[in-house]
Amino acid sequence: MRHLLSTQGLSRDDATALLDDAERFEQALTGREVRKLPTLRGRTVMTVFYENSTRTRVSFEVAGKWMSADVINVSASSSSAGKGESLRDTAKTLHAAGADALIVRHPASGAPAQIADWTTTPDGDGPAVINAGDGTHEHPTQALLDALTLRQRLGSLEGRRIAIVGDIIHSRVARSNAHLLSTLGAEVVLVAPPTLLPVGVDQWPVSVSGSLDAELPAVDAVMMLRVQAERMNGGFFPSAREYSVRFGLNDRRLGLLHDDAVVLHPGPMLRGMEIGYSVADSPKATVLEQVRNGVHVRMAVLFRLLVGSDSAGAHL
Ligand code: CP
Repeated sequence: MRHLLSTQGLSRDDATALLDDAERFEQALTGREVRKLPTLRGRTVMTVFYENSTRTRVSFEVAGKWMSADVINVSASSSSAGKGESLRDTAKTLHAAGADALIVRHPASGAPAQIADWTTTPDGDGPAVINAGDGTHEHPTQALLDALTLRQRLGSLEGRRIAIVGDIIHSRVARSNAHLLSTLGAEVVLVAPPTLLPVGVDQWPVSVSGSLDAELPAVDAVMMLRVQAERMNGGFFPSAREYSVRFGLNDRRLGLLHDDAVVLHPGPMLRGMEIGYSVADSPKATVLEQVRNGVHVRMAVLFRLLVGSDSAGAHL
């Protein structure tokens, strides 16, 4: 594996190996006074974010630092992108400055793949590129951390029914999860109004439903999505109030889930909109487990791309 750009190219074996390695990194660090492994000493990892982020940027930085990499954060607002430098020139500059890995978030779908292309030399060398969220396309490390959280809570993904609810059309998290969870053996149902479903969703490995109330009793997990008003150009249909009434996970709806079912949200959450205030803090909610798993999953991805295809176990 040279890059991680989407979950659509990940085999079941590759995905399972990444989740297993994430758990190995977690175990290797548990109980340590000093959370530092020598695994990536001498490697330089750069986060390059053209959109805001809390969880993804911070957890990649923590992951790199816990593995002793030199981690450099580049943001569009403080880089020469603000002076008009092109994405291509910025990417080639960061490669020339010594990046072994570029972790890229960008509002344009396909930007990380384009960067991987621009920075690959004729010999096939160049930095590993990790997609940290590109437009409405994909967010593969989010899907991996969600899959790890589900595996830990449910035991296995095989045959589990998982609902992904809400603003599917703007959600890179939904697309990455639909593909990865189905690769791992889950049945995925998208629950959304027709206006928030993307063209071509019939090609995804999912079923589609318009009724959250009808789906909740039968699912093992429900993944609520943030409503991405910033990608709606001021328009919002159904209205925010109607959306919340029909697709919000409130206390009544939480009661429709079976006892062992869990609630995921990738964050940031709009409490009171897609998820109720108390639902987000209920024992069924996995929001902070997802964040913790995000650090270990990102360690596993950095290990796989920068060290190789062995299991991390041999290096711990
Ligand atoms: N889940 C997620 O991508 O969160 P951030 O935007 O805070 O990174």
